Amino acid sequence: MILAIETSCDDTCAAVVSRAGDVLSNVISSQGVHDRYGGVVPEIASRHHLELTGAVVDDALRQAGTTLPQLDAVAVTQGPGLVGALLVGIATGKALAAAHGLPLIPVDHLYGHVAASFLNPGPIEPPFLILIASGGHTLLAHVTEHGPHWRVLGSTLDDAAGEAFDKGARLLGLGYPGGPALQKLASEGDPHAYRFPVAAQVQGLDFSFSGLKTALLYKLRELGEEESEARRADLAASYQRAIVETLARRVARARRETGIERLALGGGVAANGPLRERMRELVPDLHVPPRELCTDNAAMIASAARFLRPQPFPSYLQLDAFSSGERPL
Ligand code: KG4
Ligand code: ZN
Repeated sequence: MILAIETSCDDTCAAVVSRAGDVLSNVISSQGVHDRYGGVVPEIASRHHLELTGAVVDDALRQAGTTLPQLDAVAVTQGPGLVGALLVGIATGKALAAAHGLPLIPVDHLYGHVAASFLNPGPIEPPFLILIASGGHTLLAHVTEHGPHWRVLGSTLDDAAGEAFDKGARLLGLGYPGGPALQKLASEGDPHAYRFPVAAQVQGLDFSFSGLKTALLYKLRELGEEESEARRADLAASYQRAIVETLARRVARARRETGIERLALGGGVAANGPLRERMRELVPDLHVPPRELCTDNAAMIASAARFLRPQPFPSYLQLDAFSSGERPL
């Protein structure tokens, strides 16, 4: 059994997963405090992690019916993410591992999102394509094996897909996080009412969403307050369609280029209904883990740790967090 801790953003998470990939517990404590600021405040996130990790780890162990001495290893997210937030998880992981004579396994957060698809029930077998879309990242990758040697095909050049939902929602006067609210409003509108850009100008398999947000802003100005208000559902539906199509075009192209006919989704945006429908049209062999395994969670980190080499004491005491890019060697 592996205990994992994930504190890369604003969710304090701990989970226990068996070697075979059964989720024995998956505790997520969401810090609702950030909503009032319209986004995550890094310093506040770190402080809350500090207060919550102990209780969250205790809950995860209790729900799994286990104790620290019964574990094989402790795993922790090393990055990418908010450095202060990551450091709380890393320090906790080091302390628990050292106190109980366990090895520590540092995990890349994005590989964690990939490894969510390896969990029971119904794990997906490589090779497959995966689209990870959340508030922090948008990534299209080709997974050829269970280990961490997956190939990134494309990523976002500016805003993440979830950020595009959140920023569009804010322009339309909806609350944070905006994705679910925008989807709800869009369900009453016509997705073909307005034409928003679908990032056709971006070469290759990368994504860009910042032009889309600006296009919505200009459209709202052009329509004026009264008309914008009357057409909010149509605007939301058309905007959502542009995000979904941007993602769909890249997935269609990746499918053509790799010949891979299986797709997994991950990240909070995977909850979006129209996105799932569109992806299923493109790639019928579609795999979407349950919502609690798509959004940030520690079960996916424990899952990834199963395929990584544990680090012994005292070498893991040197581990440091990284905020972006690749995991340092
Ligand atoms: O993975 P996640 O919970 O947290 C991280 O960002 O790491 O993803 C949150 C993002 C937010 O941007 C939120 O607006 C978006 O996922 N989201 C959605 C939906 N539910 C959540 N976007 C579109 N449609 C949804 N139903
Ligand atoms: Zn994430």
